Amino acid sequence: MSLKFNETDFEVQKITEEGRTVVCRTFEHIPYCESPKVPDLERLSIYVPEIFYQGGSINGYDLHSAPIFMPNTIGGYMPGPEEAPGKNFMGKTNASFYALLNGYVVVSAGARGRGNRNAEGENVGVAPAGIVDLKAAVRFLRHNKELIPGNTDRIITNGTSAGGAMSSLLGTTGNHPDYEPYLKEIGAADERDDVFASSCYCPITNLDHADVAYEWEFCGLNDYHRAIIAEPLEGEPSDHPVLGKRPGVDGNGGMMKPPKFIPVDGEMTRKQQALSVELCNRFPGYLNMLNLSDEKGQSMTLDDDGTGSFLNHVIENVLKSAQKELDAGHDIMSDSKVADWLRVENGRAVSVDWKEYVRFRTRMKEAPAFDNVSMGTAENELFGTTDVKQRHFTAFSKEHDTVGGAIAEKDQVRLMNPMYYIDDPIAVKATHFRIRHGAVDRDTSLAISEILALKLEDAGIDTDIAHPWGIPHAGDYDLPELFDWIDSICK
Ligand code: DHB
Repeated sequence: MSLKFNETDFEVQKITEEGRTVVCRTFEHIPYCESPKVPDLERLSIYVPEIFYQGGSINGYDLHSAPIFMPNTIGGYMPGPEEAPGKNFMGKTNASFYALLNGYVVVSAGARGRGNRNAEGENVGVAPAGIVDLKAAVRFLRHNKELIPGNTDRIITNGTSAGGAMSSLLGTTGNHPDYEPYLKEIGAADERDDVFASSCYCPITNLDHADVAYEWEFCGLNDYHRAIIAEPLEGEPSDHPVLGKRPGVDGNGGMMKPPKFIPVDGEMTRKQQALSVELCNRFPGYLNMLNLSDEKGQSMTLDDDGTGSFLNHVIENVLKSAQKELDAGHDIMSDSKVADWLRVENGRAVSVDWKEYVRFRTRMKEAPAFDNVSMGTAENELFGTTDVKQRHFTAFSKEHDTVGGAIAEKDQVRLMNPMYYIDDPIAVKATHFRIRHGAVDRDTSLAISEILALKLEDAGIDTDIAHPWGIPHAGDYDLPELFDWIDSICK
């Protein structure tokens, strides 16, 4: 199979959403590696404003200078198929559509995830499959850089949650030899795979420390509240050839009804409560070992009781989020539940009662949140093997295991964690990072994004982090600001 891009194989499409229309040239479903494990997934599509081909420009960008916006659709560490500009699987107009309007070239690459099986029934989507695929897609673009529309030195990755984690990995592990055997295995082009910038919404990352971070934040709150996605309802097409039973996607890769959610509420068992305390007590040791400092050079530490300069730093960023609302004239204090934890004086957000703030957000996951002692999480499955469905990935949960589960190799866990690569000089890092983690998101601790941002900043990487007000676990909700950021780093 050739990895040469055929620039003559395209269609011109008119896409209309929300009363706005883009005419774009589409190059769809191009295999980006020679030996894909899941051929329907390991391919990419390129969308280009058609006006670029008539010598026109949008927002100062033309066919050669346009940034390449590269979103992924990975969620829950499941497979992420390509997605055309238009609606996403939740029925909302996607970022790719707006990216075209803003003069970017869009490259949507599919990538494997947990649940993918080959004809022999082997799990071919376990770690590090997703990040390997996305790197192979970047390599395909570089391999064809003379033919690819847009500027391959201005690739900006974007993703949400597990997809945000993937975006953070793309931005921290460029060209690292650790991934080479996996890239060779799928027949990726022998090219660079570093990217220019990474946009990460609520990255579910640093998985091997996510349990301790979660309990640092939520320990003491024993009731949990979450929602699970219902299985496809009767009558709805399911069993997508690539995605399996992924609600919202029909058998032709098309759109269906948005998934339905069923609330699950409960109280942690005594045993889970005891695990929570143990995990919580371990977080300061981890945080202090990282030797992080803020932009003023103040070292970020925690005392044994979980308080200290790092907590104050997180609170400062929550205060900034509140201040942005106040400055925009929003009366956030009219919500008595907010007034329980936030103090505002003369229009300034001055203090947060951390415990009350956490109570306001509520706990979503039982302890341990990611590496469950009885397994069953998305992450346990991520760290499976070709023939073992799920495994532990922390020594703690392996020690407290209740189901006789094995533990993943250190190397597999490492390949999924950007933290290990940021100060590895062999890894080429993105020049710019943008991290957004909503102020009421509870899928992972705010500390996870904060630690990532501090580590990037300490390594001299331009990093923009914020906890947008009132935003739960979500992404792509502030596209005008995202695109302003992209323009500010590209122009
Ligand atoms: C996602 C959410 C989670 O809570 C998690 O543990 C892993 C992934 C997601 O939305 O991608």
